[in-house]
Amino acid sequence: MTDNHNPRETSAVRRPVGIFDSGLGGLTALREIRRILPGEDLIYFGDTGRVPYGTRSHETICHYAVQDLRFLLSEADCKAVVIACGTVTANALPLLQSAFSVPIIGVIDPAAKAAVRATKNGKIGVIATQSSIASGAYDRALAELEPEVSLISRACPLFVPLVENGFVDPDDPIPLLTAERYLADIKASGADTVILGCTHYPLLKGIISKVLPGVALIDTGEEVAHALKTLLDTEEPAEAGTGRTGDVQYFVSDETQGFAAAASRFLGLDITSKAPLGEVRRIDIEAYSGILNP
Ligand code: DGL
Repeated sequence: MTDNHNPRETSAVRRPVGIFDSGLGGLTALREIRRILPGEDLIYFGDTGRVPYGTRSHETICHYAVQDLRFLLSEADCKAVVIACGTVTANALPLLQSAFSVPIIGVIDPAAKAAVRATKNGKIGVIATQSSIASGAYDRALAELEPEVSLISRACPLFVPLVENGFVDPDDPIPLLTAERYLADIKASGADTVILGCTHYPLLKGIISKVLPGVALIDTGEEVAHALKTLLDTEEPAEAGTGRTGDVQYFVSDETQGFAAAASRFLGLDITSKAPLGEVRRIDIEAYSGILNP
């Protein structure tokens, strides 16, 4: 498969960074990218019509990921693309990197590096979607970086629906009991560092910290934002230091009405403000070719 995208004309000097996720979770990465690289123009695509990806097959996730990336590259001449999704990174990063010429970074390597830096006792936990854990991608990334590290991983399939439905209050017994059940083995293992391997999970930080007090929590969004900065500093002209605030465009594959309020939660914005996000546009993602409809 080769990439013959035909980007629409964008600014002559500024090229945006594309970011995509299966839905809203990737906004936690966008928030960190805005904080660390405020001058960059960003284009976000959330596949809200087909979320969740984390329970789907490897083949379906790869198909969706190719369509998502094709959409971003047809919309703009992106200078880099961030896969703001643990599930897509775990399943499709090598495929996307071999099929498209744009620099693409995922969330797993940056998070694994941060975890290896953070651990003092060499015991690291990883929590993520079923598909991410089943792929073994976190195990491979950590083993490559530090073979001596011992890893305990756990799929937490109820975390995404809890976050999507706003069950994120650390005093709420429903997410707290769920977290206690999911995290029991990691707690018993004595891991001092846990990778939040899904971009939805930073919203559960308060709850996870309550169950795992004193454990360092690695936020994939924050780590990928640093990795993007390194990439732009070395390979592409970054907008850092220009004093400008970049534009953000949002695209989704389902209705836009509920998106702004839900997205504001992920971005930590004031949802009572009239236009907290700006414009959100809906696109037909099935119009883009993937591996199942080449
Ligand atoms: N944001 C996705 C991830 O980081 C989780 C949501 C999903 O299952 O699609 O893995």
